[in-house]
Amino acid sequence: MSKIVVNGGKPLSGVVKIHGAKNAVLPILAATVMTGGVHTIQNCPALSDVSTTVEILQELGARVEREGDTLIVDTGGEMQSFIPERLMRKLRSSIIFMGAILARKKEAKISAPGGCELGPRPIDLHIKALRELGAQIEEEHGYLICRAQNLKGTDIHLDIPSVGATENIMLAACAAKGTTVISNAAREPEIEDLANYLNSMGARISGAGTSTIVIEGGSPLSAAEYRVMPDRIVAATYLCAAAATGGSITVTDVCTEHLSAVLAVLSDCGCKIKKEKNKVSLVAPQIIKSPGSIKTMPYPGFPTDAQSLFLAMLAKSDGTTLITETIFESRFKAAGELLRMGAKISVDSRVAVVKGSKKLSGACVTAQDLRGGAALVVAALAAEGRTEINSPEFIYRGYEKLEENLKTLGADIAYEG
Ligand code: UD1
Repeated sequence: MSKIVVNGGKPLSGVVKIHGAKNAVLPILAATVMTGGVHTIQNCPALSDVSTTVEILQELGARVEREGDTLIVDTGGEMQSFIPERLMRKLRSSIIFMGAILARKKEAKISAPGGCELGPRPIDLHIKALRELGAQIEEEHGYLICRAQNLKGTDIHLDIPSVGATENIMLAACAAKGTTVISNAAREPEIEDLANYLNSMGARISGAGTSTIVIEGGSPLSAAEYRVMPDRIVAATYLCAAAATGGSITVTDVCTEHLSAVLAVLSDCGCKIKKEKNKVSLVAPQIIKSPGSIKTMPYPGFPTDAQSLFLAMLAKSDGTTLITETIFESRFKAAGELLRMGAKISVDSRVAVVKGSKKLSGACVTAQDLRGGAALVVAALAAEGRTEINSPEFIYRGYEKLEENLKTLGADIAYEG
């Protein structure tokens, strides 16, 4: 069985370059099916979720090649409109193909998506919105059969600012006649990145990054070249790891604005933060102090994806922290594993109370989801002794060269196959 082995207790120091954002690259790759041609997508990290998305593209008929961190996606041939369940189940964002395939083929057959188990992750908002745009969607034998001969722009209000639903609407609305206005849209930077890519293809989308997005549908689209934004959660992971070990690091190739909520909390923890153009330096105190409380919120609030990382970091701290998870109800899975390392955490539904310990100790633990798995790495780096992290495949969904980068920062970490 493969595992990551860490001998912890060494302060991290040095510089790490942050790769492209998983949550931006996945919808952008899906969007390449909207129009035939050769799309050049730069800054695509080699992650298992990216490989699965490439498999879906190939299943649909695209030809995909990788040159370094660039993916060249040729969607010029005959494209299919069916994605088998075995691929849909591998990741949640496979649902974004629904809007993209509908835009190109006017029909799509896909199953419900999979992804990390973070509690119920329904797709009701996606379906409701696409129906409002004129799509007919039926469920048959676990598959969604979608038809849309005449998509028409309309006003769509999202009850929850869902990232995926906002993206799916943007894609389908590009192919609709007339104007679509999404209100209460998600404001995550990855939405803006997708809109920028679509606009570089010839779409007319304004307001992305705000809660009202306007899409003027029907513009002819053509293949484009695009560079994906940096991964703000990967940046947060290295910063938390440095903070937890009393280290000092610089993350480069980041967008500092995207990290505002995370940096504000790290600063409350006693870390000295210096922001420069596209880089952030952090100097941690010997032991971090509690920031009091953290509550996850849609962007620009504190990201749910960074919550487990802070849970792990604050397990070794001075003081007690209240962490409230408002987005996904099963996102405290790492807590049970952290207890094995000496953490004092109690979880009641959506609230975790973290009583900071002076020391964590290495143990045998198991990753259960992507960010929870990364959180175990953070704790292991801060703990005394040896930690074995089983099921590391969850972690490789979102982190490229994790062990290599951490070794460069002075960590004693290795993958054992
Ligand atoms: C995306 C990110 C994920 C991040 C999340 C919130 C990708 C690939 N993943 O996930 O890393 O944690 O945003 O920032 O970009 N909901 C419904 N009905 C729906 C859709 C969503 O009730 O049809 C609910 C979800 O259960 C959840 C909330 O809305 O409670 C937010 O989910 P959403 O923003 O859609 O997350 P994802 O797009 O799946």
